[in-house]
Order: sequence, then C-alpha cells, then structure tokens
Amino acid sequence: MKVQLFFLSATLIYGTFSGEFGVEGSRYRKKSSRKNNYGIEKLFVIGDSYADTGNLPKMWKDKPYGLTFPGKPDGRFSDGHILTDFIADFLGLKSPVPYRTRNAQKKDLQYGINFAFGGAGVGKTLSSVPNFSTQVDFFEELIKKVVYSKCDLEHSLTLVTLSGNDYSAFLARGGTILDLINTFIPGVVQKLVAILKRISELGVKRIALGSLPPIGCVPVITISSGFKQCNDTANMASILHNSILADSVAQLNNESLSTQFEILDLDAAFTAIIQHVQDRKGDLSYFLDRVVSSVFQMFTLFNYLGFILVDSFILCG
Ligand SMILES: *[C@@H]1O[C@H](CO)[C@@H](O)[C@H](O)[C@H]1NC(C)=O
Ligand SMILES: *[C@@H]1O[C@H](CO)[C@@H](O)[C@H](O)[C@H]1NC(C)=O
Ligand SMILES: *[C@@H]1O[C@H](CO)[C@@H](O)[C@H](O)[C@H]1NC(C)=O
Repeated sequence: MKVQLFFLSATLIYGTFSGEFGVEGSRYRKKSSRKNNYGIEKLFVIGDSYADTGNLPKMWKDKPYGLTFPGKPDGRFSDGHILTDFIADFLGLKSPVPYRTRNAQKKDLQYGINFAFGGAGVGKTLSSVPNFSTQVDFFEELIKKVVYSKCDLEHSLTLVTLSGNDYSAFLARGGTILDLINTFIPGVVQKLVAILKRISELGVKRIALGSLPPIGCVPVITISSGFKQCNDTANMASILHNSILADSVAQLNNESLSTQFEILDLDAAFTAIIQHVQDRKGDLSYFLDRVVSSVFQMFTLFNYLGFILVDSFILCG
C-alpha cells in the first residue's frame, strides 16, 4: 500500500482575524465538509495536555475549562477544542475517546483512542502520569487484545504531541536554560524518536508530530516582562528542539520504515500569529497573557489546520 501524507502547515487564514482574542468556539463551528477522504478511519494519540481529552477526569474540573466546549469541564486543559479535536474533525472523525474509557462499548472505540495524559513527557516530569513509553504500552496491549487489527492500524493516523513537560521539569529542578540547550534537549528528542519508532513497529503507517511552539512566549515565561515580550533565550530552546526534531524525522523517513512521519508545524503557526499581532501593533501583552496559553484558540482564530492528502487506501474488512 503506497500512501502519501503531506501536512501543508501554513494555511493561516488571516482574513478571519478581527482583533478579538480569546473568543473560542464561535468561529469554530463550521464542521469539516471533508469526510474521511484520506483513508484514515482512526486517530490514536500519544502525548500531553495539548492532546489529552479527558484521561485525568479529576483534574481541571473547574471553570473556565470546558465552558465553551463541550459545555462543562471535561478533562481538557483548555476552555475549548484542543488539537486532538481539530485533527479528528479535519479527518471527518469523532474525537477519539480517552483511554480511561476504553472499556466503553466497542462502537465508541471506532474512531481510535486517545492515550495522552496532561503533564506527560518522554522522561520524568513533575507529574506522575503515564509517560509516553507507558502510553505506547497501553496502545500495544490493545493491539495484542485485537481491539484494533492490523488493517485498522494501516488506516489510522497517530498524533504525537510533546509540548515541553520534560523541559519545564528540568528547569523546575534547577537546570538553567543554557544547560537545557547544551545538554538536555538532544536527549529528549532522542527519546522521542525512540517512541516514534516503537509506534511505527506496532504497524501504524502514518505519524504526525507537533513541533514545539516558541516557549519563550508562554505566559509563565513572559510574566517577567509583564507579558510584554517573548524571551529570546527561552525561544532558542524550542528552536533547537524543532531543528533536531526536523533532522530526526528526515532521517526516519529516509530509513525506509513503512511509516511516514510528518511534523505538524505548531511553531510556525504560533510565530505567525505573534508576528501578526506585532505588525498590527496589537496589544501583545493581552495576547501573550490570554491567548498563547492555549494553542488551540489559535487554531480557532486562524482556522489553521494541516492538510492531509493520501493518494490511495484499502478499506478494512
Ligand atoms: C516511564 O514510566 C515507566 C513506568 O513508570 C518507567 O518504568 C519508565 O522507566 C519510564 N520511562 C522513562 C524514560 O522515564
Ligand atoms: C529570558 O530568560 C532568561 C533565562 O531564564 C533570563 O535570564 C532573562 O533575564 C530573560 N530575559 C528577559 C528579557 O526576560
Ligand atoms: C538518505 O539515505 C541515503 C543513503 O543511506 C543517504 O545518502 C542520504 O544522505 C540520506 N538523506 C537524508 C536526508 O538523511
């Protein structure tokens, strides 16, 4: 089966921008008209809070989480839709159920499973949730139990998000940004690549992984400038992460594994939006405070989505 997958990551539609930030949901109502055109029938997810849709039900149960979507707190680390939901919608699928509800009726599992846990990383983070490797173990168990067949896997996409919990843990334990850059980041990406290979070995043919948004622009960092500017030193960390990741992914795709790996360029999307605000002399402080905390609101505001094109597919069964 020859499958081609392309993420054309720069579909930022500036026209929808009205200068109003933080209004989640109202613009994102237009259901994708593309219904499963890509031979992808299931979405699996390994990752962290960028992708978790409810594996930590007891957490984040307070407002404003979930007020906009799904209407009440639901275990998402956001008020609204998150990356998983957007990708699923784009594929014409329902957002896959969280792993926590894996014993639900079989039909609930038909769109795949979300193994992502908020707070997770490839190594030891500040949270004791299942790390990426354990999440892949969960995936592997379900395959062994034939909850998902080989054919299911061939017609699936696995989304992997690593959004920096390893790095924030490193810094919280007293590591400096310079140590992070010089010694820590390459090791984290190496662990991530090992995870990608394991997922590939399970029989998954398509893996999309998010790049790291500019971490010098997240509120926990920008607070020191009164949310007025991004921190270039901290941004060097995400730039390095993304550059090693891009090289590693090019290498993976060159190793003639039967899996295609693609980077979903969250960094480019974030950076474009921040640039756009600066160009328009918008209130960057408000933006950095309110909006950058949720990459997903960015997806809403800019109708940003990768395109996935698959040139052929075979149906299961
Ligand atoms: C991931 O978690 C498992 C289970 O707690 C642990 O055995 C393993 O060492 C962890 N992996 C890494 C790379 O930290
Ligand atoms: C950026 O972050 C570094 C490392 O934490 C810090 O030393 C520096 O003062 C910060 N710069 C600004 C402009 O906040
Ligand atoms: C791909 O592999 C070939 C042969 O092993 C090598 O010559 C080439 O440089 C590689 N390309 C990349 C982008 O790694």
